[in-house]
Amino acid sequence: MGRLVIVSNRVPDPRERNQPAGGLAIGLADALRTEPSSLWFGWSGHQAESRGGDPAPSLDTHGKVTYATVPLTPAQHRGYYQKFSNGILWPLCHYRLGLMDYGRADWHQYLDVNRMFARVLKPLLKPGDVIWVHDYHLFPLGQALRELGVTNPIGFFLHIPFPPWSLFRALPCAADILRDMQAYDVMGVQTEEDAQNLWECLHVEGMNDPSRVVACPIGIDPVSFGEDAREAFGGPEVRRLRESLHDEPLIIGADRLDYSKGLEERFLGYERLLIRYPEHHRHVTYLQVAPVSRGEVEEYRLLRRQLDETIGRINGAFAEYDWTPIRYLTRPVPRQTLAGFYRLADVGLVTPLRDGMNLVAKEYVAAQDPEDPGALVLSHLAGAAPELSEALLVNPHDADEIADALHLALTMKREDRKKRWDALNVEVRNTTAGTWARDFLAMLYKSQKTESA
Ligand code: ADP
Ligand code: G6P
Repeated sequence: MGRLVIVSNRVPDPRERNQPAGGLAIGLADALRTEPSSLWFGWSGHQAESRGGDPAPSLDTHGKVTYATVPLTPAQHRGYYQKFSNGILWPLCHYRLGLMDYGRADWHQYLDVNRMFARVLKPLLKPGDVIWVHDYHLFPLGQALRELGVTNPIGFFLHIPFPPWSLFRALPCAADILRDMQAYDVMGVQTEEDAQNLWECLHVEGMNDPSRVVACPIGIDPVSFGEDAREAFGGPEVRRLRESLHDEPLIIGADRLDYSKGLEERFLGYERLLIRYPEHHRHVTYLQVAPVSRGEVEEYRLLRRQLDETIGRINGAFAEYDWTPIRYLTRPVPRQTLAGFYRLADVGLVTPLRDGMNLVAKEYVAAQDPEDPGALVLSHLAGAAPELSEALLVNPHDADEIADALHLALTMKREDRKKRWDALNVEVRNTTAGTWARDFLAMLYKSQKTESA
């Protein structure tokens, strides 16, 4: 059997113990642990001026995985990554058409980087390899590889939501993207809703085979995450946090600082809790860890300023000289420490306005103490919601609903928490990073057999 070749824009640095926040790299790294040998190709995370021609990939082998990465020029980084991927496709796929800022030059830069990736990757490929392309940065990559004569099986997985045709058609180059995507043998998305939307769009552009679009939800490695949580729980960081709480309950949120995560709405929900349920004053702390993400993109800068203001306003209005209602960190926390924080927290607060999956919700469940688990408050618009239906599901736009759910979570009896958690835990253990990769790749292999039959 050949190698698995993963292609994604973001590639983790194998020498860096603390990886940047982001579900794609974390989910894939968990999934790759069970693969015999693999190549992971993508952006190095660095920028370098072009010296003419395509960049040479840097190769770095760690255990069973060889990482092959290339830098982007500053112009490519701006046009392909900041503008087209994160200023156009990201808002569109998260149903935020009003935030989409389309420019034709950025589309061309996006296509050029995809073609460059294909040219640099092709000489690294071997005949038996199976190629698996990830996420919205690389919609056209499969077609670019096919144009260079690559005949290996190529699958694609989208980690973020896919909107319905009525929205996607607002993108001026929608038809080009949908036509290029048809070069993939199998296309995976997180939920049935995304699968229906993608299929509808591809069908408008002439595709007739719905079996090539599949819903295949990603998961985590719950066993190793649970172990991390137990270990970190006894460590110095969790001890410091616990001591600072003086036996009062903790609500935790952990998200990249991104407008899709509903952070502003979440803070307003917490403010409603303090207004409507004053018994919690001085008796609850909300810790939000929100590492800065895509800080060069205008919308992200604006959001950061807005959150600073909202948090400052809420703390200013409700704080006492010995109590701060919201603690807010914008730097990343090592994932293991975060696991310990989840275990300590009485409530996990995960309220994206839209999210492909949301691994944080699954991590919160996996980190709990089975004898005394916390409660999960989850947006019904997260991709994880259909699986985690035993969470306290809320509409993230409704501050009162968030406040009621928080109050319920903070006052829920241990028995009820346990009952809900047992059901959530079954789901988190059923669909893991490993089963996700295995199921998707099985469909990709099957598509090859059907083709050659
Ligand atoms: P997204 O992929 O949109 O960032 P997910 O919830 O699917 O959202 O994945 C986020 C990943 O990043 C999770 O594995 C989570 O543990 C990690 N993460 C989130 N917040 C932090 C943080 N503050 N520090 C370090 N890692 C974080
Ligand atoms: C989401 C996307 C990933 C991306 C991650 C972090 O999880 O689906 O493709 O890698 O966010 O964003 P960044 O722009 O830092 O790679």
